[in-house]
Amino acid sequence: MLSFLRRHLAPFVYLSSNWISLIGVVVVTTATVLWLFLLPFTLRGEITHPYIGILIFLLLPALFILGLALIPLGILVRRRRERLVGAAPESFPPVNWQNPRFRTLAMFIAITTFVNVVITSQFVYGAVNYMDTTSFCGQTCHRVMDPEYVGHQNSPHARVDCVACHIGPGASWFVRSKLSGTAQVFYTLFNTYPRPIPVPVQNLRPARETCEVCHWPQRFDLGKLVVIPQYSNDAANSRTETVLLMKVGGGSPHAGVHGAHVGPNIHVRYAASDASRQTIPWVEYTDATGHSTVYTAPGEKPAQATREMDCIDCHNRPSHPFQPADRALNEALSAGNIPVSLPFIKKQALEIVQRSYLSREEAARKIPSAIDAFYRQNYPDIYRQNHAQVKAAAEGVLQVYNNNVFPQMRLTWGTYPNNIGHMDSPGCFRCHDGNHASSQGTAITQDCNVCHNLLAVQEPMPKILTDLGIGAK
Ligand code: HEC
Ligand code: HEC
Ligand code: HEC
Ligand code: HEC
Ligand code: HEC
Repeated sequence: MLSFLRRHLAPFVYLSSNWISLIGVVVVTTATVLWLFLLPFTLRGEITHPYIGILIFLLLPALFILGLALIPLGILVRRRRERLVGAAPESFPPVNWQNPRFRTLAMFIAITTFVNVVITSQFVYGAVNYMDTTSFCGQTCHRVMDPEYVGHQNSPHARVDCVACHIGPGASWFVRSKLSGTAQVFYTLFNTYPRPIPVPVQNLRPARETCEVCHWPQRFDLGKLVVIPQYSNDAANSRTETVLLMKVGGGSPHAGVHGAHVGPNIHVRYAASDASRQTIPWVEYTDATGHSTVYTAPGEKPAQATREMDCIDCHNRPSHPFQPADRALNEALSAGNIPVSLPFIKKQALEIVQRSYLSREEAARKIPSAIDAFYRQNYPDIYRQNHAQVKAAAEGVLQVYNNNVFPQMRLTWGTYPNNIGHMDSPGCFRCHDGNHASSQGTAITQDCNVCHNLLAVQEPMPKILTDLGIGAK
């Protein structure tokens, strides 16, 4: 047996000492060692990122096969050359330690394997950890995910990793996302990804499996106080506040906003007429006793498959929100990022951020200089005395633009509507518009006090806030 092997290995050993085959040997050992190191992570399902899956399932096998192909190729090339010049030996030197070619080959394989083990062990651990981080998702595919990365930084989920919502726990979705991730990597490589990225995301994991790892309806607050500041276009940038008590629905499982749609045994199914799910002509409501009611709206016909409503049908932008210009500026003014004391700053800023800029670089030049020019020309005194404020305003306004507009992804004001609310886009009123009626003649409610209590609407100093002891001083 051994002698048989030796006899057949002899020409291989002799002929394989050529560059092509040796490179093949390096490639095969590298792929094997890397694969062995990644094996435990793969088996334990610890790798929760699609791109490292691409490495394991696509790149490594490809490398391995390439290396395997190079070895016989080198042998073939060498044999042909030796035959051509008539240098092919009558018989091949025997395979044993006395054969210097065998010694060299064995040494070569041993050294490449050793070097591979040293390098790979250092690299794998770091890489596996890194791939799961937000910075990898948001920055490695920089141009594509830039908007979501920036949005994420400014959201309540800034400390929740992208993969917590986009992949979630367990192995099966990890594999699925790996498969779709492969396609995305190619889109990115060949620069053919759609701009902006189309929403809703198809094949997103059912939100209840991801969101409910951290939030579940039984635990919500009874009510949530929402205060919305508004600055007007006058010289003083006068501030008013809207105060809502959102009936989020803690306590009784069927109460409030959450109880009505995602409470135990409650099912809301709907069919949209557009791919972005902004027009919803057909809705079916099944209550806890199993009784169903269908509501339809006149006009549009359902064109999309029906879908069971879950968290993301309302919270479609929980983590990377992009706001309308007016709302974004109100928040920046309220947070003090733009000084309210500058006359007409709200009006100017609103006009300036909504102009169209070809790139972020152009915006970074033109926005601050437009703010600067306005005060230099119209308020030279303020410009001289409060120059620091003008400068702060210029930066604050640019920041508002940078957080919400990404020309390279064709993402601008209003590209991605937020379904929570009904002011900037249809949102809740996709169904609650008073037009969706059942065959019994009842309509999905539009009662102004069913989702929230309107405690104050655009009041300069809402009494309710002073009563609660949280009003502006
Ligand atoms: C709290 C959960 C959550 C986190 C954290 C999160 N996302 Fe999302 N993301 C979503 C949901 C839900 C959608 C689906 C929106 C839709 O279908 O309308 C989405 C959609 C997207 C889209 C499609 C385009 C868009 O803006 O809607 C991209 C790209 C994306 N996310 C990337 C990221 C990246 C990168 C990170 C980390 C920096 C991240 N996401 C973190 C929940 C999350
Ligand atoms: C890994 C844990 C985690 C996951 C998964 C997660 N969240 Fe959150 N969520 C948080 C944390 C932490 C906060 C911030 C809580 C706070 O500020 O009090 C938060 C806050 C929120 C808020 C309140 C936002 C606000 O304005 O105060 C909403 C709404 C929300 N999450 C929805 C979702 C939805 C929808 C999903 C699934 C797509 C989701 N979350 C997935 C951890 C998570
Ligand atoms: C019918 C629409 C709708 C659905 C479906 C929905 N939510 Fe909400 N959710 C809301 C609204 C409206 C609020 C109040 C938000 C506000 O005004 O800030 C809210 C608030 C929240 C908050 C903040 C609660 C608090 O007490 O501060 C969390 C967390 C949350 N939702 C998570 C979820 C999760 C998880 C799901 C899926 C199981 C879900 N929501 C399904 C509409 C919805
Ligand atoms: C896909 C359609 C659809 C969307 C979108 C939708 N709802 Fe509903 N909602 C329903 C249906 C159907 C009912 C049950 C019929 C009813 O009570 O009028 C309901 C019931 C409710 C109820 C209970 C009403 C009551 O009488 O007790 C509240 C509160 C509510 N929705 C809040 C919201 C909020 C807030 C949003 C937006 C964030 C929203 N809904 C978005 C379909 C929808
Ligand atoms: C189906 C639920 C629902 C119904 C019905 C409803 N709203 Fe709302 N409303 C919301 C939600 C959700 C928000 C967003 C809260 C937030 O921004 O956190 C909102 C926000 C608002 C705001 C604040 C707007 C702003 O500046 O952002 C006002 C004002 C308002 N609603 C008035 C009304 C009036 C008036 C009616 C009756 C015609 C009504 N709503 C009916 C769910 C509802």
